[in-house]
Amino acid sequence: MDALLKVDTGYSVKNRKLKKWVQEIAALCQPSRVHWCDGSDQESEWLLNQMVENGPLIRLNPLKRPHSFLARSNPSDVARVEERTFICCQKKEDAGPTNNWMDPGEAKSTLLKLFKGSMRGRTLFVIPFSMGPLGSHIAQIGVEISDSPYVAASMKIMTRMGKAVVDQLGEHDDFVPCLHSVGEPIISAKDDVSWPCDREHLYICHFPETKEIWSYGSGYGGNALLGKKCFALRIASTMGKREGWLAEHMLILGVQSPEGEKKYVAAAFPSACGKTNFAMLIPPESLGGWKVTTIGDDIAWIKPKPDGTLHAINPEAGLFGVAPGTSELTNPNAIKMLKKNCIFTNVALTGDGDVWWEGLTERPPAKLFDWQGKEWKPGDDRKAAHPNSRFTVSMEQCPSLDPEWDNPEGVPISAFIFGGRRASVMPLVLESFNWVHGVYMAATLGSETTAAAAGKVGEVRRDPMAMLPFCGYHMGDYFAHWLKMGTLIKNPPHVFCINWFRKDKNGDFLWPGFGENMRVLKWIFGRTGGTASAVQTPIGWMPSYEDLDWSGIKFKRERFNELMSIDNELWPHELELHGELFSKLAGRLPMQLELMREMLRLSFVS
Ligand code: GTP
Ligand code: SPV
Ligand code: MN
Repeated sequence: MDALLKVDTGYSVKNRKLKKWVQEIAALCQPSRVHWCDGSDQESEWLLNQMVENGPLIRLNPLKRPHSFLARSNPSDVARVEERTFICCQKKEDAGPTNNWMDPGEAKSTLLKLFKGSMRGRTLFVIPFSMGPLGSHIAQIGVEISDSPYVAASMKIMTRMGKAVVDQLGEHDDFVPCLHSVGEPIISAKDDVSWPCDREHLYICHFPETKEIWSYGSGYGGNALLGKKCFALRIASTMGKREGWLAEHMLILGVQSPEGEKKYVAAAFPSACGKTNFAMLIPPESLGGWKVTTIGDDIAWIKPKPDGTLHAINPEAGLFGVAPGTSELTNPNAIKMLKKNCIFTNVALTGDGDVWWEGLTERPPAKLFDWQGKEWKPGDDRKAAHPNSRFTVSMEQCPSLDPEWDNPEGVPISAFIFGGRRASVMPLVLESFNWVHGVYMAATLGSETTAAAAGKVGEVRRDPMAMLPFCGYHMGDYFAHWLKMGTLIKNPPHVFCINWFRKDKNGDFLWPGFGENMRVLKWIFGRTGGTASAVQTPIGWMPSYEDLDWSGIKFKRERFNELMSIDNELWPHELELHGELFSKLAGRLPMQLELMREMLRLSFVS
């Protein structure tokens, strides 16, 4: 076994707990080789080249897309799988009714059988990573063991990964072990498929009490890059509950007024609902010198400081962003960011070795290879890129990167924004009356499901704080934690709700969205500084037509009224739906939220 543990990347590992864990897992999974990742560029080259040779990567045309790659996954392994995601805590009631639960002992015995020999014929990669700036008091260390070179190469982009993390860890025991296997050992040469996975026995298990993650069977995104949803949201949310901080499905952006005043806001929208776009927004010039900068696009770790302010870091170091819909018009910063050094997954390939996806250009190229490599031409009745196709790229390539993005102290948060994808009911923007009402609005957030998770798309469901698939404990306790946080902070951030996705009778979006969202952000900025006015409605403070800056666009008052309307028929029903979520959580639902619902309900009784 010592031979297996030989560090072939030339650094020494002192941590006994780490070495022992690697040794145990190697004995269990029986890989052919063990490779301790050092996080160097050379190592990344080696991983990428190896995947070009053996699959699943295609090197893109270096003249079009230097040092970039296309990965094609197994067609059944294309998104997060919520039905196979489990919270394994001692008591079922602690996972709550919105999570799948497994007894930890039972989960481990089931998974031990699956992991046994699961890495035969493969290399076991030891991937040490830091979520957050190395050494930051808000950051945490994890070590992923995976038999997927795609995971190792992606973790190099998505996290601070490698030897420096092992050095930082020293002999401390405090790291989260994250075990991952694609679950398809190579027993004979024919088993060596380009995207191994085991969809028949898929398990994504979290053990919040012992801070461990075991994921088996999938090589895709949040199922496999365990620093992301598994650690930075599900495990971290339970740590935050215990320790008094928040781990949220939020982007963080900086917004600076033409006068040079700067604030930071954090915004939670469900998967594939516009976080990346909003985090990288380019304000219309007609608004006169506003600037938006990016700290993160998916996850925020937020801690109260002794002075009563809330500070946030982005625990990630890269973007795993939705490709379809990304274009020069919708997100020019992303288009610049994707010029080189990217891994694209499940997008279409052009005849000259570049990438394409729906929405990238108005008209598709005449000939393409779709995400599964089949020939595709315009007019074909299937998508060329998978709706959940993604790009993986380093934060450092972001043209709007905020100078503070790597600051170990984080940035102060002035506002929280919550938003869903709603064709009706929800107005463009709404500000809460106070913190408790803000928590209520966030807790009752509804949104249409998207391709980011396997299953039906377009159904409205409650997605509290955009954390439905990511909260590692009972949702009622999570609401209570949010309410309590409000009492720990001196001036709780203002809370807003937005909806970029409201539609008119013809099914067209009422709001132009993207860069134009700056008009809403400007109002939010003004509200946090007490300089923007608003009107009071039964469901919150809203801007009147005059309160938004319309310079540079023609947006009719009637259209605005439609976009902002509060329908007296639909709202009582909406409040019933809030009630359905609340009854599910009965017993652990904070009384303030039930009372808030009652108050809102009564304001619609004539
Ligand atoms: P995850 O990475 O899955 O957590 O998602 P995300 O919230 O970062 O999603 P992303 O920003 O990548 O948005 C996904 C989809 O929303 C894309 O198809 C975008 O084109 C669309 N979108 C983003 N912003 C807007 C907007 O302002 N209006 C409209 N209509 N669509 C938008
Ligand atoms: C999401 O689904 O919210 C994502 C993508 O950000 S994944 O990392 O696959 O979860
Ligand atoms: Mn996400």
